[in-house]
Amino acid sequence: MLIRRPADIQPSEITPAEIYHQRRSFMVGAGSLALAGLLPQQAEAALPAYTRSPYSASDNPTSQRAATTYNNFYELGTDKADPAQNTHRLKPAPWTLRVEGLVNKPRSFALEDLLRLTPLEERIYRMRCVEGWSMVIPWVGFPLASLLKLVEPQGSARYVEFVSHYDRNTMTRGVLDWPYTEGLRLDEAQHPLTLLAVGMYGDVLPVQNGAPVRLVVPWKYGFKGSKSIVTIRLVEKQPLTAWMKAGPTEYGFYSNVNPEVDHPRWSQATERRIGEFTKRRTQMFNGYADQVAGLYTGMDLRRYF
Ligand code: MTE
Repeated sequence: MLIRRPADIQPSEITPAEIYHQRRSFMVGAGSLALAGLLPQQAEAALPAYTRSPYSASDNPTSQRAATTYNNFYELGTDKADPAQNTHRLKPAPWTLRVEGLVNKPRSFALEDLLRLTPLEERIYRMRCVEGWSMVIPWVGFPLASLLKLVEPQGSARYVEFVSHYDRNTMTRGVLDWPYTEGLRLDEAQHPLTLLAVGMYGDVLPVQNGAPVRLVVPWKYGFKGSKSIVTIRLVEKQPLTAWMKAGPTEYGFYSNVNPEVDHPRWSQATERRIGEFTKRRTQMFNGYADQVAGLYTGMDLRRYF
């Protein structure tokens, strides 16, 4: 995002990635065995049954093709088309998510454990990128609060830090201070809208969208949605995020979608929804104000941007 590019990108500028069709190469722990010819058939992970969430927006979802070929995942390349073409650089199985820090019951979760967390729901969320475009994505996931409850946060825990997978041998070097880290206040993390996604469009998450597990916080700019998370850490002090380190005047800790607080280099008043021609007015908290404004009562959102 520090790399200069036009704030608004026309849908017609999206580069299609033919390689997208490889996206169903998500293996359940059997990848290397299968490659070695030891297994007759490669097992594909499937999502367990899930329900439709009352938290879903009624907006029409963005095309699956756009959502999976126009990505920000800098570990897999800084161009929007790169992540879909570099999916071989991240192996989403087997996977372990460690939840640690100021909790009574630190624990490691295998992906299979995560898929058992409830309620597993499809939630159609509006997503607004800090760069000025937006999408509507049918995620499948469970509330982060369900996971946090299992580890029992201690009274001194006030923030939650998210650390993404990073392998310097296969992933981008430079650009950001790796691994990619993000953070939320504990009450934001426990908010019912905050989702850990394991799927989208009814299928497991494609690598380029953050397989096997990513954060989705629909009232914040898209960069708060850490992809391919390996560690969730409960801490006392506000964590420094990868984007705050890279551009402290441009990316704040809160990063709530706010049409009244411009990015230093461009306005945040409008957005172009991918697939549409006319710009839309950006909504306060991305249209989720009724549910989340109370988290910020009394705060100066220009200062805490
Ligand atoms: N997570 C990691 N690990 N690395 C990244 O570069 N980019 C962020 C966020 N999560 C990013 C990340 C940004 S800038 C955006 S806008 C969203 O992922 C994009 O998510 P999408 O590609 O699924 O739309």
